[in-house]
Amino acid sequence: MTIADLLINWYKDNKRDLPWRNTTDPYKIWLSEIILQQTRVNQGLPYYNNFITKYPSIHELANASEEEVMKTWQGLGYYSRARNLHATAKIVSYELNGVFPTSYKDIINLKGVGHYTAAAISSFAYKQVIPVIDGNVYRVLSRLYWIETPINSTQSLKVFEPIARDCISTNQPDIYNQAIMELGALICTPKSPLCNKCPLNAKCTAFDKKETDLLPIKLKTKKSRDRFFNYLAFIHQEKTILQKRENSDIWQGLYEFPLLESTKEINIEQVEKYLKKEYPNLNIGTIELIKQPKHILSHQNIYSFYWVININAINREKNLTWIDLPETKRYPVSKNIERFLNTNSVFL
Ligand code: ADE
Repeated sequence: MTIADLLINWYKDNKRDLPWRNTTDPYKIWLSEIILQQTRVNQGLPYYNNFITKYPSIHELANASEEEVMKTWQGLGYYSRARNLHATAKIVSYELNGVFPTSYKDIINLKGVGHYTAAAISSFAYKQVIPVIDGNVYRVLSRLYWIETPINSTQSLKVFEPIARDCISTNQPDIYNQAIMELGALICTPKSPLCNKCPLNAKCTAFDKKETDLLPIKLKTKKSRDRFFNYLAFIHQEKTILQKRENSDIWQGLYEFPLLESTKEINIEQVEKYLKKEYPNLNIGTIELIKQPKHILSHQNIYSFYWVININAINREKNLTWIDLPETKRYPVSKNIERFLNTNSVFL
C-alpha cells in the first residue's frame, strides 16, 4: 500500500472528531487554521466555538469592532493574527461579495495567510491537491525518509515540498492532509513517539534505525531578550488608567496600564522620580509593588512589576482618562494584564 493509503486508512479509524473537520465552509476552515497556528487543539477548541457562535459567517466577523475581535482572541497571543483575521474578513465581506477566494494563488494573497494555511484551505474546502507542511508534517516526513535538513532553515520547504507532493493522495488530498497532521499529533510525537501503533512503521527509516529522537533537526534560534515592564496601576476614587499600545511591538492594539519599561529591575525611588516628572499633577499616596511571574514569549522574557499607586488628589489634570475599575474587564488586554486584574482584589 502507498503511504497515502496507509495514512488514510489509519485516520478513518483513529481521527478525533473536531468541528472544523465536518465542514467544507472555507470561512470555518480558515478561522480554525488561524487559531490552530497559535495553540493546540484542546486550547483552540473553545476559542473556535466562541468565534463561530459570535460570528457565524464572515460578515458578522467583518462587521464586529476591532476591539471586540481582539477581546474574543484574548489569551491566544500574537495579536497581529487577530488584526489580520479581521482585516481579511472585511475584504472578503465588503470587496469580494462575501465569496472566499477559491484558488491557492488568491488564498495565499489574503492578509495573514501563508503557505501552510493556503494549502490547508485549498485542500480541505476545495479538494485541491496541495500538501500541507506544518510542524507535524515536517516531523513525520523527516523521520520517514531520514531528512536531516533543519526544519526551520530557509531551504526546508524546498527540500520537503517535493517529497510531500509525492506522498499526497490525488483523489483524497483533503483526507490525506488531515491524516498526516493527525499522525504527527497523536503518534509521531516529538518525544516518545508511539511507533508500535504507527501505520507507517514498516516504511520508516528512523524507526528502522531506532533513532526517531534524532529527528527532526532544528537550528538553534536566537537567545531571548529580557524586558522589564513597570506598570503604573494608578488608583483614584475607584478608577484607574488604561492606555492602548500603539507602537509596533508586542501586544499592539491591546490596553495596559501606563508603562515604564526599563532594561533592569528598578526600585521605588526610581518609580517616584519618574512619577514626579511625568505626572506632576498627581498627588501620590501609597505605592505597593506586585510582581508577576516571568511571561515567556517566542523571543522575549517579560518581567512584570505592577506598581499599585494610590492617588490622594489630582491637581488640574485634564489629559488623563480615568476608567471605573470594573470597566477594565471590558478592554482587550494581554494575558499578563488579565492575570493581574483577575488576581488583585481592588480590580475585581
Ligand atoms: N492543526 C492544524 N490544523 C489542524 C487541523 N485541521 N486539525 C487538527 N489539528 C490541526
